[in-house]
Amino acid sequence: MSIAYETIYQFWNSAILRAGIKLGIFSLLEEKQPCSSEFIVKSLNSDPKFTHAYLEACVVLGLLEKDGNKYKNTKETSDYLMPGKLDYLGDLALHITNYWSTWGKLDQLILEGRTELPFENGFVDAPTYWKDYMYGQHNRAESGQINNMIQNTDLTGRKKLLDVGGGMGSYSIPLCQTYPNLQVCLLDAKEPLELARKLVEEKNLSDRLVLKEGNFHSIELDTDYDVVLISGVVCITSEEGNRKIFARAFEVLQPGGLVIVQDFMQIGENKQKHFLDTMMDMYLKIAFSPGAGDFASEDIVSWLTDVGFENHKEILLPTQLNIVTAEKPQ
Ligand SMILES: C[S@@+](CC[C@H](N)C(=O)[O-])C[C@H]1O[C@@H](n2cnc3c(N)ncnc32)[C@H](O)[C@@H]1O
Repeated sequence: MSIAYETIYQFWNSAILRAGIKLGIFSLLEEKQPCSSEFIVKSLNSDPKFTHAYLEACVVLGLLEKDGNKYKNTKETSDYLMPGKLDYLGDLALHITNYWSTWGKLDQLILEGRTELPFENGFVDAPTYWKDYMYGQHNRAESGQINNMIQNTDLTGRKKLLDVGGGMGSYSIPLCQTYPNLQVCLLDAKEPLELARKLVEEKNLSDRLVLKEGNFHSIELDTDYDVVLISGVVCITSEEGNRKIFARAFEVLQPGGLVIVQDFMQIGENKQKHFLDTMMDMYLKIAFSPGAGDFASEDIVSWLTDVGFENHKEILLPTQLNIVTAEKPQ
């Protein structure tokens, strides 16, 4: 089969996945499986013919399997699509597919060099966008990225961390739990902070993790941090914006302070990561800002070096994200 022929249908797969998550079909099955099509129809109050066709599509995709005439989740569905499980990726799937209309206009966006957010074209509203965006990042963190960061950075003896664009606190919360003497200021916009607040309270960390609303470029900040964490921000920002972010990070760090940049980025040539890095570069431009991109780590290092950082380390991780660290001279 030609690549062109295969590619024609691939967006159907994402639609099947998205619908199952939105309708709660995988969770319903997990609880009651194996289930007949009739049971699902009754539970969802859905159209019988469409529901049957949908369940069969899930089977050919490998999301469900059949037990006689009944349906049940495959092991992968059970592992990755059950809310509450550590490897849950459902919110990330919703976030990525919230860009459905944006991708549908790709030809136009390429001509115009323009970004289009899902709430700008009405595919989802702004609160849904923010919720899926933040929980999607949280899925990625919980399903392995937190461990990667903790195993590949050493904050022993560090006391004061600024988490720039810290989202829901997906990294600063586990960092606080790992380093009991660490105090964190998590900086972000209003919407992520509302979600972060719930998590911080749940984990009883309100006295060690302060939430600060604002823009890193303009907000007033202390200048005695000994760690600045910049995770998931560089890839959604232009080179010019990133140079400003690094200059500000340098300014707020004390001498000897550490900057940790974790992001989609390319470290050398990596066959395994090449496909997603390439697609990600397109996505970041249409989804976040025209100057955004899946940058090469050497560019990130040179922007850090230009503002005064030294002793950089490039850390290749087994997941899609990588890490660059550097220090402010003593
Ligand atoms: C992709 S999310 C990353 C969230 C989290 N750090 C993580 O790695 O999961 C990027 C976050 O950075 C925030 N952000 C981007 N630019 C920012 C800026 N200049 N000041 C404050 N927050 C910013 C966004 O609001 C968003 O919550």
